[in-house]
Amino acid sequence: MLYGIFSDVHANLEAFRAVLRFYEKNKVEHFICCGDLVGYGPQPRECVELVMALKDCRSVLGNHDAAVTGRIEMKWFNANALAAIEFARKNLSGAALAFLSALPEKLETPDFTVVHGSPKKPLTEYLLGEIQFVDSLKFWTVSPCFMGHTHMPAYFKHDAAGLPETDFLGPMLRVVSDGGRLMLNPGSVGQPRDGDPRSSCAVYDTENKVFEIFRVPYDIEKTTRLMSEFKMPVILGERLLLGF
Ligand SMILES: [Fe+2]
Repeated sequence: MLYGIFSDVHANLEAFRAVLRFYEKNKVEHFICCGDLVGYGPQPRECVELVMALKDCRSVLGNHDAAVTGRIEMKWFNANALAAIEFARKNLSGAALAFLSALPEKLETPDFTVVHGSPKKPLTEYLLGEIQFVDSLKFWTVSPCFMGHTHMPAYFKHDAAGLPETDFLGPMLRVVSDGGRLMLNPGSVGQPRDGDPRSSCAVYDTENKVFEIFRVPYDIEKTTRLMSEFKMPVILGERLLLGF
């Protein structure tokens, strides 16, 4: 079975549509969303409604989703992020808000685990290094564990000998599971931060245990035009053009 793994859409409908077209072209019909559908971008309602319309999509709550629905304190956000959260609050439909409110912080199935930030602190921790990864192992059981939050594609691996290994997926786009425990980050659909402004998403092939990152181009100017039309903070548009 092929799963489309995506995260951090951040209300960027142009980017999200491009990623969904990529999945459709590659016959991916099952999806896992690692959170942060809203925040930063200009079309929160449309993005949440697109996820609601997917036939098979397992989703978790991100920190921006939690802020919009009042499940996390606003002190965690800077002024630009707060402005976009307020914007989302005003624009989401009742059904979209109810959908976000019902999302779990952690999803554990017989086949995989899903969190936004980390299994230890799903809404706040940025999992960036091996020490954090090893520390997180006692907070989840079923591998692979998919996560997002950093907006950078990466993998963390604990092999049979118990040795941790990690890499941020620049040139290396493919991870094959060999029985160790894996945490896999597909990067961000709507606000990549690894210097590549194209959307980032992943496909996980359950049969061959292969996790692969793909970069999908989209009309960034269309998104930034909408952001300036809605008078959102200028820096939020500029960072999309830079991929940072
Ligand atoms: Fe995010």
